[in-house]
Amino acid sequence: MPSKVVVGVQWGDEGKGKVIDILASRADVVVRSQGGNNAGHTVKSGGEVYKLHLIPSGILYKGVKCYIGCGVVIDPQDLLREIDGLAERGVDCSNLRIDPRAHIIMPWHRKLDGLSEKALGGGKIGTTGRGIGPCYMDKYERSGIRMYDLVHDEVFTRKAKAVGQLKNEIITKIYGGDPLDVDAVIGEYLEYAKRLAPYVEDVSVLTDQAVREGKNILFEGAQATLLDIDFGTYPYVTSSHPVSGGAAIGAGVGPNRLGEIIGVAKAYTTRVGEGPFPTELFDGTGDLIRNRGQEFGTTTGRPRRTGWFDAVLIRHAVRVNGLDCLAVNKFDTLSGLETLKVCVAYQKPDGTVLTEYPCDIHELEGAAPVYEEVKGFSDDISGCKTFDELPQACKAYIERLEELCGCPIKMVGVGPSREQVLER
Ligand code: GDP
Ligand code: IMO
Ligand code: MG
Repeated sequence: MPSKVVVGVQWGDEGKGKVIDILASRADVVVRSQGGNNAGHTVKSGGEVYKLHLIPSGILYKGVKCYIGCGVVIDPQDLLREIDGLAERGVDCSNLRIDPRAHIIMPWHRKLDGLSEKALGGGKIGTTGRGIGPCYMDKYERSGIRMYDLVHDEVFTRKAKAVGQLKNEIITKIYGGDPLDVDAVIGEYLEYAKRLAPYVEDVSVLTDQAVREGKNILFEGAQATLLDIDFGTYPYVTSSHPVSGGAAIGAGVGPNRLGEIIGVAKAYTTRVGEGPFPTELFDGTGDLIRNRGQEFGTTTGRPRRTGWFDAVLIRHAVRVNGLDCLAVNKFDTLSGLETLKVCVAYQKPDGTVLTEYPCDIHELEGAAPVYEEVKGFSDDISGCKTFDELPQACKAYIERLEELCGCPIKMVGVGPSREQVLER
C-alpha cells in the first residue's frame, strides 16, 4: 500500500511541513485529519517560504488533491485568508475539498479561548488563542456547528442564533466579558459560506475512492504526540488526536488504509506554551539552540522553549503511533556543541527511575533527566548530500538515537529546504 501518515512525535514544530512537502511530490492526495489553524507548517520551496495553517502542504504541487477531513476544526475567515494569500502568490486551491462534517470555529470560540486562559492565570495552558479547545468542546458536547450547517443558510442561522445567545451568557455572566453581536456574526459567516460552498464534499468518500484506485495518499498530521489529548502532557495539550490513530477517524477511512507511519522529530526538543518539559535547558546552550535553530513559533511568533533530545518521550511516541520509521530534522543546528546529551530515563526525587513516559504529569514533578553523553560535531553539515558525507560523530549520534528510540531514522534533516534531507 503506497499510503503514508506523517505525525509529530514531540511537542510540535518538528519540521513536518518540510517532510510532507517532500513526500507530497510523490503523492496524489494529501489529507489533513485533525487540529486547525493552531498548526503552522513551514515549506521552503525554490527560495520561497510558505507558512501553511489549515490547507494541506500538498497544495504547492499542481496535480495533488488536498482534503480537509471531518476531524479538523475550521476558522472560515482564516481559511479564506490562507486561500487568498496563496492565490496572490500564484498557488491555485481549486483542488481543495472540505468535509461537511468538519466543525466551524465561531468568534465565541476564539473569545472563550482567551477568556478561559486569562481566568486560569498562572495555570494557563498557553494555547494559540485560535479557539481550538472551545470548538472541540462544542463538538463533543454535540452543540457544534458543522461545515454542512454553514453552507445551508437556514440551518446555520437557526443554530448560530441559539448557540450564540447561550455563549453570550457564558461570556458575560461567567467571565465578565463583552457580548458578541450574534446577528452580525451570522451575516459575516454567511458571506464566508458563499465562498467556501464550492469546496465542500464528502472527504471520506473521496479518500476511499483514492484508496480503491491505488492512489498514493499522504495523511498530514498537525501538532504532535505529546500534545495529544490522551497521550500528551494533559492538561497541557491540544484538544484533538494528533497520533496516527486520529488520522483514520479524522479522514473517514479504516485504520488498515493508513500505510506506513512516519514520525517527525527534531535532533533536540522544543515546546511552545506551558507544561512539563523534563530536558528543558535554561542556560546558554538553550539560547544557542533557540537562536541558531530560529525557534520562534510559526503561528504565534512566541519563542520556543528548547532542550536536549528525550529518548523516553520518543519511545512513547513509537509505541502509541506504531511508528515504522523516524524523520529527524535540524541536526545542522547542533553543530559546534562539544557534547550532546540524550535523556534515557527520569529519576524521581525518591530515587525511582522511570524508563516509560508516565501517564500523568504529576509523576514528573521534581524528576530529573538521566543523560547519556555523546560526542558532538563542529563541521557545517548543511551542504551534505548523503548520509555518508556526514562527520563520523554526527553519524554516531544518529545511530545512537536509533538504538535508544528503537526505531530506524530514515530521513536526516540538515537544513530547512527540500534538498536538505538525507534519505537512507
Ligand atoms: P511543523 O509545524 O512541524 O511543520 O514545523 P514548523 O514549520 O512550525 O517549524 C519547523 C522550522 O524548522 C521551520 O522554520 C522549518 O523551515 C525549519 N526546519 C525544518 N527542518 C530543518 C532542518 O533540518 N534544519 C533547519 N535548520 N531548519 C529546519
Ligand atoms: P504544529 O502543527 C506547536 C500547542 C500550544 C499550546 C497547546 C494548546 O505547527 O506542530 P491550542 O491552541 O491547540 O489549544 O494550544 O498546544 N500547540 C502547538 N505547539 N506546534 C503546533 O502545531 C501546535 N498546535 C498547538 O502552543 O501549548
Ligand atoms: Mg509548526
